[in-house]
Amino acid sequence: MSPALGSTAQLTLSRRPHQCTGWQRFVKCAEKCTEMFLPGREVDFAAFIQSVTFCIIITGFYGVDPGTLSPVDVAFMTNALNRHSDNTSRRIPLYPDELYAMRERVCRWVGGERASQALETILPAYESMWRLAAVTLAYANGNQHMHNAFLDFNENPTQKQFRSFKVKNTRPSVEAIINEVLRLHPPIQRIARKTRYPLWKRLFYPAQEIADIGAVHRSCVYGTHLETFDAMRFHPQHERPVDIQLLAFGHGGLSCAAEEWAPIATALIVAKVMDRVDNVGFVLAGKIFDARMYRNTRIGWDGWVVRKKEKGKVS
Ligand code: HEM
Repeated sequence: MSPALGSTAQLTLSRRPHQCTGWQRFVKCAEKCTEMFLPGREVDFAAFIQSVTFCIIITGFYGVDPGTLSPVDVAFMTNALNRHSDNTSRRIPLYPDELYAMRERVCRWVGGERASQALETILPAYESMWRLAAVTLAYANGNQHMHNAFLDFNENPTQKQFRSFKVKNTRPSVEAIINEVLRLHPPIQRIARKTRYPLWKRLFYPAQEIADIGAVHRSCVYGTHLETFDAMRFHPQHERPVDIQLLAFGHGGLSCAAEEWAPIATALIVAKVMDRVDNVGFVLAGKIFDARMYRNTRIGWDGWVVRKKEKGKVS
């Protein structure tokens, strides 16, 4: 776990998240934050899910009251974080002024002593979680079984419910759905490690070794029909069940500290959004989700919107 996490976050990231008080608080924050960003009429889907995710991270990890977050500040932060991710992938450094402005807002929310470390946690958490939530929502949108699995989890956000396969074990659990999204669309595509060649050999070899997570996830150890979304491949009684861990959280000593917690927490975000969007009369509308187009799930959301249901129209 990053040393950046404050005590609230440590509570939330406990091994059994659903059993600790931090988890109950996190569930409440997820509800409030989703509510806050539901639009008057129509809103860009990516911007909506980014704001909700950011708000849940800052309130859920650091005990900030959602009511104190101004939508303008949240929009500033999500835009800056998006630019930061984009620049990092193109190896362009972040503008110092922008970094200063981000830090100033985080200081205001979590206090000066925690601000720098908080940013170190918010960045990887935000970057991975909004994309995982967005892609999961896109897959589940219009699929009644997936939709129902998330609504059940929303009603009863426990680890048992997260892991329960549905309809007499013929339909996937929320965990299996999240795993399949992580398999096909790992938010972080590559991990790098310094090579360990002796000094004299380093002249002839690259300084880093790169593992392509997306490519590994499409290898035959994960079953058959590898380009097809099939969450049931994670069922233990599947004809060829997946019995190898995903690489989406990295590997070994440097792997992501939130590996156990992030899937269930992201599932909760998805469940809350689905519940509120349905209950308050909104629909998620977009183009057909084409898995091949979404290797980089940071982009490709043009045209996706969350919009109020028109009266009398069945979506
Ligand atoms: C959908 C969820 C997430 C995915 C798929 C993910 C994936 C990853 C991966 C692949 C790495 C690199 C591991 C390696 O090199 O072996 C990483 C590092 C890290 N993750 Fe996560 N992560 C997720 C959520 C989170 C969350 C919620 C937090 C914070 C609470 C977090 C904090 C970190 C930190 C601090 C690092 C190391 C520093 C860094 O490289 O930026 N991650 N994560």
